[in-house]
Amino acid sequence: MKFAIITCSDTRSEAEDTAGQALISLINQSDWEVASYRLVKDDFDSIAASIVEAVDTIEADIVLTCGGTGLSPRDVTPEATASVCERNVPGIAEAMRAYSLKITPNAMLSRAVAMQRGKTVVINFPGSKKAAIENWECVEPALAHAVKMANGGGH
Ligand code: MTE
Repeated sequence: MKFAIITCSDTRSEAEDTAGQALISLINQSDWEVASYRLVKDDFDSIAASIVEAVDTIEADIVLTCGGTGLSPRDVTPEATASVCERNVPGIAEAMRAYSLKITPNAMLSRAVAMQRGKTVVINFPGSKKAAIENWECVEPALAHAVKMANGGGH
């Protein structure tokens, strides 16, 4: 499976993006490929364009965005995701919040969505390293089946 990681942050440099780096190592540990990594500002158009590139050019099976899902005025990742995706996959975001609420009440503050653009599944993760790792632990067991189904495969 081919992944694209898009970290959305106004303040972080690549060296400071410990959440993005943690996701890259977790994906590699699962023997999957990280085909691209981008760091963009919390800017609607930049996030939307990066998702389109990850899906249409890089042809990632899964796009993980990281950050910008909260309540601050600059948090626009879910809206940018929805602007370039067709179908909602609510169960993924519901599962992430249910899993994360057992760890911290602040999990309810993530407005993360999971959606499909064509055959690709785009999932918003919160931006801290801790949150990114916890959300990976939640979704990882269902990702291979998600990609199989998105590509028309049977059970
Ligand atoms: N989910 C998990 N599993 N662990 C966390 O520590 N942090 C929360 C939440 N989800 C957290 C979490 C916090 S503090 C916020 S503000 C929201 O995600 C949104 O984070 P973001 O703005 O970095 O996307």
